[in-house]
Amino acid sequence: MKAIGTIVVAVLGAVVAGQTEHPPPAIQCEAIKAPTVPGATVVSVKAAEMRNMRVRMMNGTMATVSYCDANITLTHGTAGDRVLVEVWMPLSGWNMRFQGTGGSGFLAGLFAPALAPQLMAGFAAASTDAGVGSAGLGGMAVAPNSTLSAQLLTNFGYLSIHDMAVAAKDVINQFYGMAAMKSYFNGCSTGGRQGMMEAQMYPQDFDGILAGAPAMNWPKFVVAELWPYTVMNAAGTFPPACVLNAFTAAVVAACDGLDGAADGIVSLPGACRFDASTVVGKSVACNGSSVAVTAQQAQVFQQILQGPRSPSGEQLWYGLLPGASATTLATRTPSGLGATWVSKFVLAQQGISAQSAQSTLQSIDPQSFPTLLDASQTQFDAVIGTDDPDLASFNAAGGKLLSWHGLADQLIFPNGTFDYRQRVEDLMGSGDAVDQFYRVFAAPGVQHCAGGVGPEPTDPLDVLVRWVENGSAPDTLPAMKMAQAGSTTTKASGVITRNLCRYPSVLQYKGVGDASLAESWGCAEASPQQVLTELTASEEDTSILATASAARKVRPASVAAALAIPAALAALALL
Ligand SMILES: *[C@@H]1O[C@H](CO)[C@@H](O)[C@H](O)[C@H]1NC(C)=O
Ligand SMILES: *[C@@H]1O[C@H](CO)[C@@H](O)[C@H](O)[C@H]1NC(C)=O
Ligand SMILES: *[C@@H]1O[C@H](CO)[C@@H](O)[C@H](O)[C@H]1NC(C)=O
Ligand SMILES: *[C@@H]1O[C@H](CO)[C@@H](O)[C@H](O)[C@H]1NC(C)=O
Ligand SMILES: *[C@@H]1O[C@H](CO)[C@@H](O)[C@H](O)[C@H]1NC(C)=O
Ligand SMILES: *[C@@H]1O[C@H](CO)[C@@H](O)[C@H](O)[C@H]1NC(C)=O
Repeated sequence: MKAIGTIVVAVLGAVVAGQTEHPPPAIQCEAIKAPTVPGATVVSVKAAEMRNMRVRMMNGTMATVSYCDANITLTHGTAGDRVLVEVWMPLSGWNMRFQGTGGSGFLAGLFAPALAPQLMAGFAAASTDAGVGSAGLGGMAVAPNSTLSAQLLTNFGYLSIHDMAVAAKDVINQFYGMAAMKSYFNGCSTGGRQGMMEAQMYPQDFDGILAGAPAMNWPKFVVAELWPYTVMNAAGTFPPACVLNAFTAAVVAACDGLDGAADGIVSLPGACRFDASTVVGKSVACNGSSVAVTAQQAQVFQQILQGPRSPSGEQLWYGLLPGASATTLATRTPSGLGATWVSKFVLAQQGISAQSAQSTLQSIDPQSFPTLLDASQTQFDAVIGTDDPDLASFNAAGGKLLSWHGLADQLIFPNGTFDYRQRVEDLMGSGDAVDQFYRVFAAPGVQHCAGGVGPEPTDPLDVLVRWVENGSAPDTLPAMKMAQAGSTTTKASGVITRNLCRYPSVLQYKGVGDASLAESWGCAEASPQQVLTELTASEEDTSILATASAARKVRPASVAAALAIPAALAALALL
């Protein structure tokens, strides 16, 4: 998983009336003492002022920052783990807020690159390594190799963000002589999962949680990442990237108009009915030569989109949404998060050696796949599943949970996020009840945490802060994307904007106006499932359905040529 996350710099000073002061430190940074962390023992505390430190932030920009740096090392009982919690506190201009930051992939935290932008926005911010260090959980293995103790798995699975919150709040209280007024958590991917876990298990830790593209349902989705390999392996055919991209381009061409605008961004993937066999026989440019798409490749691609199914046809987990790139997961050998997880965790815990695990992985097929998925779930759900829909305590504590997911996520299946939200609704009785404290926004065309053709949330943390501190519950989430060179979507402004819709409503082009601008779009109060049903049932409606149908009907080939199919895809488009 790429080490990327949501970077947010909020201008927060004016949010809370009468709270615009910036309390100075009350003690010397060096005087910070060991915090009290129930269940853990503080092994050491090192605190020192850091001045004019050059830091590369997550977005690649360099920054020069000064702060009080407190490193706290924790251990649990006799486990022998060493967990680092690092807290950065502004020497001046503290906005009276604490922000916990999350990790990525097998890393529990990202440290300086994640802390610096938050420090610059006035937060006291913290990161933790969960004791798995900079190699991350994936650099370890469970028995028989035993480089990973049950404690480390627990730390990474659910405990370390809680420990970090407790330790950081204590240290902040010491340094400024007052407690943080509000506490936030901010993460994407693994960071998103950590946020969801906090809401589920430690509802008192944070007032507001921002959970982007959450890696929740971990034991299921991580194994499901091996499904593309599984079907390709079973078919004995591995479509090259150029062919996979040609399929994706065909999906986009077929379905992006369903939202009313043929702009290369698929907003209604659930309503997309794509038949890969329509691409069979087409020529694809591959490395300068022309390759004809085969029926077998089409069948494999269709199965990848369907997601994992048992041999009897039972849906086991979700697949990539139509429009998402398949090249990251559809690899010639089992790779990435899924391969590491299955070999070093699922199979290792069954006593299977690393070598045997490799051959088990290589030979995975649709018959053995359900067993593997089931084993992952059975062995690890309790510690890292992050799928408990009971958020009643978080709600009762007044917490707000803001989540978003890119619909073109090529790593974590967005339906896992929607599935969870649905299960919370089922438990609480209604969507309205859940909306009081937990909102999910879909970001069409956005890849994992960032990237892709679709506009990304511009400052979701600021939106969350306003929700928590001002009671302004967000109906939409502002998003923006700088136009790509040569793009035809951006007529005037050079940017594509959207106000992302709150699940389950969906973006709908109003039919008039510059389709690159948010003002030309609205949110249709229909569930994607409804849209799907009604689209097939009737094409005479006056709402989104009519617009969508019209777009489908009138879309001639010449329109396709003018589409904002991203440069990368356009270059690979069908000949
Ligand atoms: C706070 O909420 C009020 C209405 O509830 C709104 O008018 C105001 O603009 C909000 N302030 C901020 C900073 O969001
Ligand atoms: C805290 O840890 C970080 C990274 O591990 C290190 O760069 C920094 O110098 C440490 N700070 C102190 C005060 O020891
Ligand atoms: C990167 O983040 C910093 C701090 O949040 C911000 O000031 C800067 O504009 C960002 N740079 C880019 C290229 O986005
Ligand atoms: C893992 O176990 C194998 C077999 O027992 C051993 O050869 C290898 O050195 C171990 N690796 C580590 C990191 O302990
Ligand atoms: C996946 O999510 C999309 C977007 O919300 C939805 O339209 C679709 O019905 C979901 N698919 C499944 C199988 O639940
Ligand atoms: C195209 O070239 C790349 C890099 O040389 C290679 O990895 C890939 O397999 C080639 N694709 C096809 C379809 O030949």
